[in-house]
Amino acid sequence: MHFPKLSQLQSRFAVSLGGTLVLILIYLSINRPSFAYAAELDSRIPPDHNHPFSPDSFENGGFDEEEDFASVEHLREITLDVADIQYDQHRGTQDLGAKEYEEGELYVSSNTRKVAGELRKRAPDGVNSLSNNAPQNMNIELGVTQNWMFSQDEIEGPHSENGVGFPSDASTTGNMSDDGPFRRELSNRQSGTPIWITINVCLQPMSNTSTNEMPPQIQLFYSASDDIQKPGATSDGMTGTRIDVEGGYGIIQSNATGDVYIGVTAPNTTNFQGMWNYEIAASNDAPYHFYSNETDLLFVDGDNHAALLVTPDLTDAISNSTTYQQWMETQAPYGMFAHDQKNTSILGVSRSYCGLRNNARIAANVPGITNNNVGTMTNRGLGGAPKEQFYISALNASSEYWGFLAMTGNSTATGAGVIGGGGRVWSNMTFSTKANDNCALMYNLSFCSEVAYAVPSNPDKFSPLDGLADLAAVYDSYAAQMYQYFNYSLQQIPCNTTASAQYSLARNCDDCARAYKQWLCAVTIPRCEDWGNNAPYLAQRNMAQNFPNGSTPSWVSNSGVDAQVLLNAVQSNSSRNSQIIDDKIQPGPYKEVLPCIDLCYDLVQSCPAALGFGCPQGKYQNMSYGVRDPDPGILSCSYLGAAFYLSDGVRDLGVPSMDKMWVSLIITIVFLFC
Ligand SMILES: *[C@@H]1O[C@H](CO)[C@@H](O)[C@H](O)[C@H]1NC(C)=O
Ligand SMILES: *[C@@H]1O[C@H](CO)[C@@H](O)[C@H](O)[C@H]1NC(C)=O
Ligand SMILES: *[C@@H]1O[C@H](CO)[C@@H](O)[C@H](O)[C@H]1NC(C)=O
Ligand SMILES: *[C@@H]1O[C@H](CO)[C@@H](O)[C@H](O)[C@H]1NC(C)=O
Ligand SMILES: *[C@@H]1O[C@H](CO)[C@@H](O)[C@H](O)[C@H]1NC(C)=O
Ligand SMILES: *[C@@H]1O[C@H](CO)[C@@H](O)[C@H](O)[C@H]1NC(C)=O
Ligand SMILES: *[C@@H]1O[C@H](CO)[C@@H](O)[C@H](O)[C@H]1NC(C)=O
Ligand SMILES: *[C@@H]1O[C@H](CO)[C@@H](O)[C@H](O)[C@H]1NC(C)=O
Ligand SMILES: *[C@@H]1O[C@H](CO)[C@@H](O)[C@H](O)[C@H]1NC(C)=O
Ligand SMILES: *[C@@H]1O[C@H](CO)[C@@H](O)[C@H](O)[C@H]1NC(C)=O
Ligand SMILES: *[C@@H]1O[C@H](CO)[C@@H](O)[C@H](O)[C@H]1NC(C)=O
Ligand SMILES: *[C@@H]1O[C@H](CO)[C@@H](O)[C@H](O)[C@H]1NC(C)=O
Repeated sequence: MHFPKLSQLQSRFAVSLGGTLVLILIYLSINRPSFAYAAELDSRIPPDHNHPFSPDSFENGGFDEEEDFASVEHLREITLDVADIQYDQHRGTQDLGAKEYEEGELYVSSNTRKVAGELRKRAPDGVNSLSNNAPQNMNIELGVTQNWMFSQDEIEGPHSENGVGFPSDASTTGNMSDDGPFRRELSNRQSGTPIWITINVCLQPMSNTSTNEMPPQIQLFYSASDDIQKPGATSDGMTGTRIDVEGGYGIIQSNATGDVYIGVTAPNTTNFQGMWNYEIAASNDAPYHFYSNETDLLFVDGDNHAALLVTPDLTDAISNSTTYQQWMETQAPYGMFAHDQKNTSILGVSRSYCGLRNNARIAANVPGITNNNVGTMTNRGLGGAPKEQFYISALNASSEYWGFLAMTGNSTATGAGVIGGGGRVWSNMTFSTKANDNCALMYNLSFCSEVAYAVPSNPDKFSPLDGLADLAAVYDSYAAQMYQYFNYSLQQIPCNTTASAQYSLARNCDDCARAYKQWLCAVTIPRCEDWGNNAPYLAQRNMAQNFPNGSTPSWVSNSGVDAQVLLNAVQSNSSRNSQIIDDKIQPGPYKEVLPCIDLCYDLVQSCPAALGFGCPQGKYQNMSYGVRDPDPGILSCSYLGAAFYLSDGVRDLGVPSMDKMWVSLIITIVFLFC
């Protein structure tokens, strides 16, 4: 006798059954599934039943794993406890869960891992729980410690919705390297789930001794051990791990394998009164509050009451690309804060979005602020890439300011449930205002569209409040008129002929027209500096005249030349462009940042010799042109699109981007096993 032969169908079944079993085994080994309640419970409750957490939930003795767990009565009792705690918290998007528990119904979440009755851990007395991306705001008195907990259920709970992000083009985002904290990683029980707990100090106590003394920073502690559920400091010492809080910002970054406990301690101090107010948030997606140690804000120029600042290029996409167009059309995403450097109270909160929002005197493009200044998208400047500009007004003359680039929430949404909803702050830069009122900051011209700097002005003729458009029109229409003359000349040149008949193989008439426009705008619209500024590269203008307010200037000779000699020289006793500046505007004495000599060289090289352009030499060159300083912080000559501390190319502004590969991997795994 021999065994009956399996039919083809039967043997296929056996093979696939075997395969399925192997798959299930693999699945169980890598992903202990949450439907195995008993197993999960066992892993949480040490055999001695004397486990350190959630004692209240189990206090009515005899709680014995499987049996009791199956009882809906008991389930309701436990979850009601949880609901009590969680319901009075501001729970963001997950309120629903707690509420339905409270009504005694079984709650089935859309997330497959959250099944009805899954045990939520109860926070110990005096410890408030934190939910994913749901900020909590708290006052804290001197000397007090407040405790928080980010429970394992929340840590391993659902992620918040990741937005579409900023316009980007797969081929140009390669150098967005610093997105480390915004990368969501596969959670796995061995190495833990990445979490971020961040704190922002919004208000700090006031000094009751000297007005400018800074209060100490509040202290942040954490513990991942159930043995230390209330980390913090007392006069006797401290428990838990201390995390530095600087400028009102602290961040705990960790791979969590269980509950995480947090302590916030306000130090005891005698010289201050009042309290701190802070916002704390925990997230399994990315830091809810974010601080970057980069500056990413450039000073373009200012006058005695206003300043113009720009972000670095926001993309290096070419101008006919969709990404470029999208950037130019977006609602300006960044905001900024500024504060007088004489007032140091800002130092204690300078890395905190809500701290700056509450304390900085000046803001631009920050929603909900009165006297807000504007932020707009522009492509002015070298390279013509999209960037955001801020025009800040109502500043004091001769003052130094701190400037901070900032972002409200993720720029399109804020608050609970938004990844990064607490806002971002970048490190500070400094800028200063001019002393005199006869230099006026001008930008947004229609012909010389690249001009963005202070120009000679007269506040009596062109009011700083509403006369700047008229002033701009005077300069701009003059330049446009001059350009038209040039255009007529250019039309005499055989530009549009075959290559062999062109004046140059390397340059054509478009290059010539572009170089001429650059040169013309820089030369007809001089860049103005305070009369009292003694930088060696500045040229004195109109030195024999009085200021618009009638006062006479003190003559400062910065080159060792006798003042009387300068006075008699045309170039120091008139303006570069006397028909409009001296006759129409009459700014009085000022100093000029000379145009860069390379603008002239570029013009000569780009245009046909027939046009007869040439650059002055020697002494005459030094009178009319300046040379660039290798230090980008010194603007020793004027060129269009100049900004101080020019960055090279695209700088990463920490635009959040999620690792697409991980997302699809997670999705694939979910589909494979569910
Ligand atoms: C900000 O968050 C909201 C909600 O999560 C999202 O819809 C939006 O796309 C995000 N914006 C950006 C610029 O990422
Ligand atoms: C502050 O002082 C009080 C009273 O001496 C003490 O109980 C408390 O622990 C102190 N707090 C800190 C953070 O040192
Ligand atoms: C978390 O784990 C990842 C990889 O498992 C590691 O690269 C990272 O440094 C860890 N982070 C912390 C804060 O320990
Ligand atoms: C500052 O004010 C607080 C609260 O009013 C007080 O306890 C403290 O003694 C004062 N410190 C000084 C130096 O006056
Ligand atoms: C910013 O922090 C990074 C890493 O923490 C460091 O490498 C870099 O030098 C810092 N940059 C500045 C300007 O401090
Ligand atoms: C953009 O312009 C470049 C040359 O200036 C051209 O090669 C490219 O095809 C253009 N792209 C689009 C999408 O028009
Ligand atoms: C500005 O940045 C410098 C260098 O990072 C730092 O030392 C200083 O404290 C900062 N000032 C403010 C107001 O944040
Ligand atoms: C400094 O600025 C803060 C916040 O704007 C303000 O409350 C405080 O009075 C200022 N201090 C001085 C000395 O001007
Ligand atoms: C200008 O100076 C006055 C007096 O010092 C000060 O109160 C005010 O806050 C300053 N304004 C700005 C915008 O810094
Ligand atoms: C620039 O000028 C145009 C008109 O020429 C005006 O519509 C626009 O609002 C101005 N932009 C800014 C930022 O002033
Ligand atoms: C010169 O002027 C003509 C007519 O006004 C215009 O079409 C042309 O574009 C101008 N050329 C340059 C190089 O601007
Ligand atoms: C040359 O001809 C092209 C089209 O043939 C025209 O677009 C361009 O403006 C001309 N250049 C000048 C300087 O006239």
